[in-house]
Amino acid sequence: MQIGIWLRAVGSTSVERTWWRESVFYQIYPRSFQDSNGDGIGDLQGIIRRLDHLNDGTPASLGIDAIWLSPFYRSPMADFGYDVSDYCDVDPVFGRLADFDLLLAEAHRRGIRIIVDLVPGHTSDQHPWFQEARASLGNPKRDWYVWAKPRPGGGPPNNWRSVFTRFGSAWTLDPETGEYYLHHFLPQQPDLNWWNDAVRDAIESVMRFWLDRGVDGFRIDVAHGLVRDQQLRSNPRFLLGRPRRNWDLEEVHAIHRRWRKVLDGYSDRMAVGEVDAPSLARLVRYYGNDDELSFPFNFHFLGQPWRAERFRAVVGQWERLLPAHAWPDYTLSNHDRSRAATRYGLARARAAALLLLTLRGTPFIYYGEEIGMTDVPIPPDRVVDVHGRDPERTPMQWDGTQGAGFTAGAPWLPIAADATRVNVAAQRDDPASLLSFYRRLIWMRRGSPALRAGTYRTLPAPRGVFAYLREANDEHLAIAINFTDREARVRLGTGAAPILLSTQHGRDGELDLAAVALAPNEGIVARIGGQAG
Ligand code: GLC
Ligand code: CA
Repeated sequence: MQIGIWLRAVGSTSVERTWWRESVFYQIYPRSFQDSNGDGIGDLQGIIRRLDHLNDGTPASLGIDAIWLSPFYRSPMADFGYDVSDYCDVDPVFGRLADFDLLLAEAHRRGIRIIVDLVPGHTSDQHPWFQEARASLGNPKRDWYVWAKPRPGGGPPNNWRSVFTRFGSAWTLDPETGEYYLHHFLPQQPDLNWWNDAVRDAIESVMRFWLDRGVDGFRIDVAHGLVRDQQLRSNPRFLLGRPRRNWDLEEVHAIHRRWRKVLDGYSDRMAVGEVDAPSLARLVRYYGNDDELSFPFNFHFLGQPWRAERFRAVVGQWERLLPAHAWPDYTLSNHDRSRAATRYGLARARAAALLLLTLRGTPFIYYGEEIGMTDVPIPPDRVVDVHGRDPERTPMQWDGTQGAGFTAGAPWLPIAADATRVNVAAQRDDPASLLSFYRRLIWMRRGSPALRAGTYRTLPAPRGVFAYLREANDEHLAIAINFTDREARVRLGTGAAPILLSTQHGRDGELDLAAVALAPNEGIVARIGGQAG
């Protein structure tokens, strides 16, 4: 086993080096990053204003390489932009197309790439395509969506459920034509019919529209959905490992292969997919034969409880499953999940960051993670999301003033009570702050071939500690993370080695590799001579 893992680690250096495999991504939820006109909602001009925080070319900034921008397209905002009514325009609340072009230019000028959210599974019910489709049974766009007659005796055609559980059935009756239409999310988000070639062509045109404008790629929404059983058969009542008929179908891979060809027709573009696969073995299929997604998100990683053994297991399983051409990527938070600092506790925020940014794989950071933003309790009269996700979407905390530097007006979601203390301005010049730690960590990663592109192999460690090596050419780094609230001791090799970075501010100097003492929740990176194991 040990030997197998070692060989695999050596072999994995054959992965082709591309910008997206070596980048640190940063997700911006546009409504919540920076408001520029006082309407309480973040916008594109606001993002431009804050680009220097993300990367101004110096270690005084965070140092990220790429932005994933959640949707900013025209939308009635029933799902805050994931219900698109025009794929090729900017919603007025966020600005205009010219603002997007400026944002892209300003980002590129700083060496920051931008990928945009592609929402191909469904449109808004206000999209002209759906307006046409619902107009009559015979409308040429009718078949762009999924329609079905009520089942005999009435009621929805099958037992498929909306992901937004409060809506129950994934079907809504359209009284005008007497048929049900399918929506795996809100009734205001009718599903497109991906068996229809015209739909495939239309979404390809959308991709080309943004690629021609210069975007560096896409985050693809619900990339395991899209295609549903053509006969609309119900799911088995008890799944027990049996495949579902509305998710993760074989045909979806044909779509990913087509999209990859589109991307490969441009230079240096990528796609990361939101893929909720029931197992890592199903997930790995979305790389295809290096002809599908650049990578899918790995939500099995995000879903782990804070235990060393669990993270070691999920990373190890993933590393073993990945074919030689495939590169992992990891994330701990996004706009759909409770923030990592809330799930694991703030005391572990640094260790979690160290884990995310030192594993073999592209890290995705969620805005605010770098200052320790946590889920914000939302009073009932301020709830706006249909699915309970407001707490992790609150405004970015830039400073301690009333609008947190986010807005001069009334923010669309409440600002965290701790924003007076937890904010960028308060942390920027404090070398002991979480923000300073993130900066050091990211800039260390930027300068390290081993961290950016090197091999991965675990080191034996006592319970509660996750230890591994990252190596490239003659750079050898040992990483050890104590997941427990107690002190721990781990052997990383022999002799002495300099500490490159510790989550304990001020800890530097040399380590005795034979007995490395770790404080509770401490993680360290040490440069070793290549003798560990
Ligand atoms: C994805 C998005 C989520 C959205 C849903 C429907 O899961 O991340 O925010 O509600 O798709 O588009
Ligand atoms: Ca605004």
